Amino acid sequence: MAEDIPWERLFEEATRVRQRAHVPYSRFPVGAAVLYADGSVVAGCNVENATYGLTVCAERGAFAAGVAQGRASPVAVAIVVDTPEPCPPCGMCRQVMAEFARPGLPVRSRNLKGDEARYSLAELLPHAFTRDFL
Ligand code: THU
Repeated sequence: MAEDIPWERLFEEATRVRQRAHVPYSRFPVGAAVLYADGSVVAGCNVENATYGLTVCAERGAFAAGVAQGRASPVAVAIVVDTPEPCPPCGMCRQVMAEFARPGLPVRSRNLKGDEARYSLAELLPHAFTRDFL
């Protein structure tokens, strides 16, 4: 249930990890925190590379770390970016979320002013390509 999600904790984590972002090229740090069904939270920041295309977004970093930590069943995602309006996740990250989460996954994004946007994964990525098609 969305009401049971500790959003403030998630946004605190996303804000904290955002400070670790490796963004010498874009200067656009992003933080993301994923809540799992067992109550654990896994955070990620964007990590850029001199070969620009190797950049890993904050959201994908968090999901990859969750896999490495043996976490299953993501139940909520919080994102923090310093933009005039809250910033939605990129298309690649939406597809990675769809690999692990149900369509109803709530995703919230805040800027540093505290403005918030709320989405479901299904809104962000309708007609997702999933293992069901394989
Ligand atoms: N970025 C993310 O971390 N997440 C997104 O959903 C959008 C973009 C990063 C990638 C790159 O390091 C910087 O933001 C600018 O695109």
